[in-house]
Amino acid sequence: MDVFEAINKRRSTRRYKSENVSEEQVKKLLEAAIMAPSGGNMQPWDFIIVRDKDQKKALARAALGQMFIATAPVVIVVCANKPRTARRYGDRGAELYSLQDTAAATENILLAATAMGLAGCWVGAFDDDAVSSVFGLPTYVRPVAILPIGVPGEFPRAPPRMPLSDVTHYDKW
Ligand SMILES: Cc1cc2nc3c(=O)[nH]c(=O)nc-3n(C[C@H](O)[C@H](O)[C@H](O)COP(=O)(O)O)c2cc1C
Repeated sequence: MDVFEAINKRRSTRRYKSENVSEEQVKKLLEAAIMAPSGGNMQPWDFIIVRDKDQKKALARAALGQMFIATAPVVIVVCANKPRTARRYGDRGAELYSLQDTAAATENILLAATAMGLAGCWVGAFDDDAVSSVFGLPTYVRPVAILPIGVPGEFPRAPPRMPLSDVTHYDKW
């Protein structure tokens, strides 16, 4: 599958078949994640792989009760390790690059999953403190995205996009 096909096929998918996602597949997803660009190549990402049923349920509750998260065979939580980039870039690293870099890694995971016949959903609505306490995250680590991943059990249509002409500016705003 080429990159354009993966970009167009990727859909936020919230129903999964009961089939497992192997460790090998998870490794492949993470290898795609860490090939994302990052400011100064500081790579301020950490990943938590969640398979334990109770941890998945606790995570779903922390995500404002989005219980579909707990139905995925595996959930990847993408975290921003702020000091790793703040070391070189100060506040801009901690508050901007750490989020941009982890967002890029997140999209790589979702595109790789699509290319592998898997699907997921970028979940960003959660209580940061609740997620941090589920995993015992250090205070300097911010959870950025929760990614339930599985074999798709639904194939939603792409929600409409605004026309390019409404969001494109030439030479000035
Ligand atoms: C930053 C961010 C946060 C999101 N948070 C949630 C969420 O909490 N729950 C959810 O079901 N989908 C969430 N989504 C998925 C969006 O609803 C979805 O990307 C959007 O409707 C477009 O659909 P598509 O991903 O299939 O193209 C989030 C997506 C992003 C990028």
